[in-house]
Amino acid sequence: MKDSNFLNENNARHLWHPMAHPGAMQDNPPRIITSAAGSKITDHTGKEVVDAVGGLWCVNVGYSCQPIKDAIAEQVNTLPYYSAFGGTSNAPAIELSYELREMFAPDGMARAFFTSGGSGSVETALRLSRQYHKIKGEPGRTKFLSLKKGYHGTHFGAASVNGNNRFRINYEPLLPGCFHVPSPYPYRNPFDESDPERLADLCVAAAADEIAFQDPATISCFIMEPIQGAGGVIVPHESFMPKMRALCEENGILFIADEVICGFGRTGDWSGSRHWGVQPDMMTMAKGITSGYFPFGACMVSEAVAEVFETGSPEMASIFHGYTYSAHPVGAAASLACIRETQRIDTRPNAAARGSQLYEGMVALKEKHHLIGDVRGGHGLMTGVELVTDREAKTPAPAELMMRVYEAAYEAGALIRVGANNFMMSPPLVIDEDEVQTIIDALDAGLAAA
Ligand SMILES: Cc1ncc(COP(=O)(O)O)c(C=O)c1O
Repeated sequence: MKDSNFLNENNARHLWHPMAHPGAMQDNPPRIITSAAGSKITDHTGKEVVDAVGGLWCVNVGYSCQPIKDAIAEQVNTLPYYSAFGGTSNAPAIELSYELREMFAPDGMARAFFTSGGSGSVETALRLSRQYHKIKGEPGRTKFLSLKKGYHGTHFGAASVNGNNRFRINYEPLLPGCFHVPSPYPYRNPFDESDPERLADLCVAAAADEIAFQDPATISCFIMEPIQGAGGVIVPHESFMPKMRALCEENGILFIADEVICGFGRTGDWSGSRHWGVQPDMMTMAKGITSGYFPFGACMVSEAVAEVFETGSPEMASIFHGYTYSAHPVGAAASLACIRETQRIDTRPNAAARGSQLYEGMVALKEKHHLIGDVRGGHGLMTGVELVTDREAKTPAPAELMMRVYEAAYEAGALIRVGANNFMMSPPLVIDEDEVQTIIDALDAGLAAA
């Protein structure tokens, strides 16, 4: 490894960073993270802080999970790669498909198709949903429906169902036939409705109206996150997901739960769907599936969806979709070890308890800091804090102000994530009470310094 002079000199010079301006990164180089343990990360100056981001909503079991590290090393030594195309398979992928089926059977999931991450899982789900209807003799069902404020990734399919124009406009035209309905976001919505339950009904009614307008016979699927993550941690009323599920079922529309963030314990349940009492037709997964130790993902489908494919004709039902790294043996081994650790520790109660602590801590900060317009969370370890410069007018805080708070919070001991005028927190699910308090204190210090 080169020394720190080399790293400082070359930081962001030859590497374009995701979700950032390349020139701005050169002028203001990113922090270099050099090591991590438990729920803490250390930068190249030697400063250690609590990682309130959990890597990127993904390091669920923390940074010190020896069984995952060992499983990766062992698998690299045994079989570092082999393809799952054309008549070959591998042991960890077979075992993982069995384990996932067991873990997500209460959600109705029966089969897994493996990918290299969340965008690939979403792409897979969207493509399979079109094919499902074609096999069933309804080739006209091609459109995709999703929620505004949703985030589903960056491949063209995923980006087309994203509901935030920051991720869309510079890449348009995106896929035709994608339609977006209002998000159940009580703080800002076109209905001016702040009651979450009434808002949920209004959003379901808007979705029903859109479905009727499009004609249900043209719609393939609806995709939603059980709790919208990157959009700013938008927690719907508990009635929303079940009502959307019922609406889709009535109209023959496949229901895809994007569990890339919510899956594997983040909401305090093994899936966000289970948290709201919904059984979807498909689930997309990534992040917590390996806790970020290896890029890996899955699209799971229900028994009913599986049956359509498995009994369909070879011309219609063969899956001509897949990635070189689908069912990667090292990724599958990492995932198996991660899932075993996730279940052994049982990350759910800590996610729920520490999630409540973090949420309540942020609610208390709202009393103290007028910059906080809204606090969202309380369902596991996902908390969003929205900053405004005028509470009455809900004027979004400008980027410079967000960065000042972010930097001061870092100095005070926690790395938080900025998304537009939101701070988002999704620390490892193994975080302890003192570390959560450090995050709360750090944001408090950050806001005081703004
Ligand atoms: C809900 C959701 N779906 C999909 C994705 C895309 O995943 P990836 O970045 O692994 O492609 C993300 C990423 O944050 C996500 O939050």
